[in-house]
Amino acid sequence: MRLFVVLTAAGSGTRLGCNMPKALVPVAGRPLLEWALEGLPSCDFVVVSAPLEQLDRFQSVVSGCDVPAAVVPGGSSRQGSVAAALKTLVNMVDPVQDDDLVLVHDAARPFTPPAVFDRVVAALQNGHRAVVPALSVTDTIKVVTPRTRPDEPVEVVTATPNRATLRAVQTPQGFYLHELAALHQRFSERSLAESTSFSDDAALYEAANLPVVTVEGDCSAYKITTPADLALAKSQHSPHH
Ligand code: CTP
Ligand code: MG
Repeated sequence: MRLFVVLTAAGSGTRLGCNMPKALVPVAGRPLLEWALEGLPSCDFVVVSAPLEQLDRFQSVVSGCDVPAAVVPGGSSRQGSVAAALKTLVNMVDPVQDDDLVLVHDAARPFTPPAVFDRVVAALQNGHRAVVPALSVTDTIKVVTPRTRPDEPVEVVTATPNRATLRAVQTPQGFYLHELAALHQRFSERSLAESTSFSDDAALYEAANLPVVTVEGDCSAYKITTPADLALAKSQHSPHH
């Protein structure tokens, strides 16, 4: 069994607002991309999706890490970035074996503990084909009709799903490489046509009516999205902590 990783790092980090790609933002002097690469389990190869304009900078971070990895240009959506990385991976490892596994992981979750990776891989080895780490939600979640203009003061609530059935999902998400690559190929044209994209990889399995299971996630695998998330990361990982 071989294990590959797609590390998505091609996002711009608009909500973080640091004037640089999010994966290059430093915590304790090291870019998030470096933290993410060094937090990966040992594996056969990593493909990193990076912003097209910054490939050199990303390549130099990757070269400084002791991880076998290549950098490829990402797409305009996360789904496009994963698809591009999978294409490269499939060409590189040709021929793909039936039991080749792939973890798709966000560089924006650089402090994901090893136990989460272990649980995802263990579930794949136990016969599941699409595995996501998940946490119970503590907030009550409402479904709304989203405001169409940012200055609308209110949104209309349409439902309150039973919280016991809701989970917040994280990465790494684990799959069989040949299956995930085939699903990305199958859904790429369709989602372009619908101008929507899937925000995680398990959603492609769901759209194809294939089973997805969860394993326990970890709050340390939080996604660095806002300035408050970055402040938390800095406070947890500063050398004076
Ligand atoms: N991502 C990607 N390619 C894109 C968009 C996102 O590879 N076109 C990656 C990001 O680099 C990140 C992960 O998907 O590791 C989750 O995305 P998100 O947290 O939304 O990051 P950004 O898109 O960079 O942030 P924002 O939405 O605030 O711009
Ligand atoms: Mg985004």
